[in-house]
Amino acid sequence: MQVNEYQPLIVAFCCNWCSYAGADLAGNNRLNYPANIKIIRVPCSCRVNPMFILRAFQRGADGVILCGCHPGDCHYTTGNYYTRRRMALLFSMLDYLGIEKERTRVEWVSAAEGAKFAETMNDFARTVAALGENKRLEDLRCKK
Ligand code: FES
Repeated sequence: MQVNEYQPLIVAFCCNWCSYAGADLAGNNRLNYPANIKIIRVPCSCRVNPMFILRAFQRGADGVILCGCHPGDCHYTTGNYYTRRRMALLFSMLDYLGIEKERTRVEWVSAAEGAKFAETMNDFARTVAALGENKRLEDLRCKK
């Protein structure tokens, strides 16, 4: 890795029951994923209001990923079905606003899929790094 290589800021919303446990498993198995991915634990993927994602972009995130239980495995029965529909709408709106669709992603990761979690995060970080900084939704007042 080069010394001044661009490191995108990525926010990952992970549901407590599956994806966060998957991240934990990745850590326990010493699987690497970039440190610039900031994980926010939520009770269920459907807890993520689309405004949270817009706010993350506004505060300088270059990419946002939302991880939850596999369809049919949500611990609140249908939470991730709401997530899927809600995010489809949000992502099409972001596309309309000119935000590259590769900056956002929804992934289903179970508690037993530590390797998938690390793989997904590495792949997402590479994709977002290739896109460069997010300038479109960033609020310059939030700049440090
Ligand atoms: Fe994981 Fe609902 S509890 S998506």
